[in-house]
Amino acid sequence: MEVGFVGLGNMGLPMARNLLRAGHRVRAWNRTPERVEALVADGAQRAASPAEAAGAGVVFTMLADDAATLAVLGGPDGLLAGLPKGGIHVAASTLGVPFSRRLAELHRERGQQYVAAPVFGRPAVAEQGGLRVVVAGPVEAVERVRPLFRALGPEVFVVGDAAYLAHAVKLAGNFVMTSMMEALCESLVLVEKTGVERERFAEVLNAIFRSPLVESYCGLLLERRFEQPAFRFRLGLKDIRLVLETADETTTPLPLADLIRQHALEGMARGMGELDFTALLRIVEAHAGVDGRTEAAQGEPPR
Ligand SMILES: NC(=O)c1ccc[n+]([C@@H]2O[C@H](COP(=O)([O-])OP(=O)(O)OC[C@H]3O[C@@H](n4cnc5c(N)ncnc54)[C@H](OP(=O)(O)O)[C@@H]3O)[C@@H](O)[C@H]2O)c1
Repeated sequence: MEVGFVGLGNMGLPMARNLLRAGHRVRAWNRTPERVEALVADGAQRAASPAEAAGAGVVFTMLADDAATLAVLGGPDGLLAGLPKGGIHVAASTLGVPFSRRLAELHRERGQQYVAAPVFGRPAVAEQGGLRVVVAGPVEAVERVRPLFRALGPEVFVVGDAAYLAHAVKLAGNFVMTSMMEALCESLVLVEKTGVERERFAEVLNAIFRSPLVESYCGLLLERRFEQPAFRFRLGLKDIRLVLETADETTTPLPLADLIRQHALEGMARGMGELDFTALLRIVEAHAGVDGRTEAAQGEPPR
């Protein structure tokens, strides 16, 4: 299949590469053009604009957020102008529910199709073709693009025929993961303050939960590779804001999400936006008065 791909960040690049590996022809565009080069070396065609990428008839977007997606839509070089009638926009980013509804409307007005397909899994999982794809959109459009999802991961969950439903599921899933991370950060600090090594506690947790996700987050929090962002801190704040936006819209109290948003805001205020979101641990440590000691013990400069 011929497919356009717009947005080659931490997630978009490995996803587009897997589409190529699966034998699809990829036309790629990225705001920072240098990022397209690696993919061209793998056999992709460089698109001069989002419109040219969308000319493929099916186009993925994997951009930071609602604003970034909006930025590639409009004007003569935009995705909306380039996507033919009946063409399909597959939005794989984590977007807000109201914005996802608006996208559906914009495409409907132009006789185009829109499928939401946000993904679970960090960049390393994307590289291995191990993403979980949550899909929603008109049945016929979903079936047309389903073969593309096989290149991205082993499991596809179709959650409805209104596209925004997939974004609602993705946001709720992210809320669970972020809450787990907050609890892991707090409990790692707690056990350490009582005199138990964090690593020993993580062994116990992994035995209890036997969850690849818990194991992966425990590993990330112990390794403290905050300076190598696989999921940027500012995107973590974006996601929790979108969770709360949906909570407001549906009158659903989410006190835990409020707390996490405050911690994420504090991280932004401390200039942590470009770190990995697991740097949330620094905020929890700072509240417990152990930040300086822990950073020094880990051999990282205190900040
Ligand atoms: N990283 C993860 O673990 C993960 C997992 C699941 C889902 N997600 C979601 O997937 C999406 C992408 O995440 P990522 O980690 O790949 O982010 P990222 O590495 O920060 O990449 C962001 C992409 O958006 C582009 N972009 C940002 N603002 C733009 C604008 N105004 N106009 C045009 N392009 C713009 C960037 O272009 P430049 O290269 O020019 O900056 C880049 O291609 C996000 O919605 C995120 O929440 C991430």
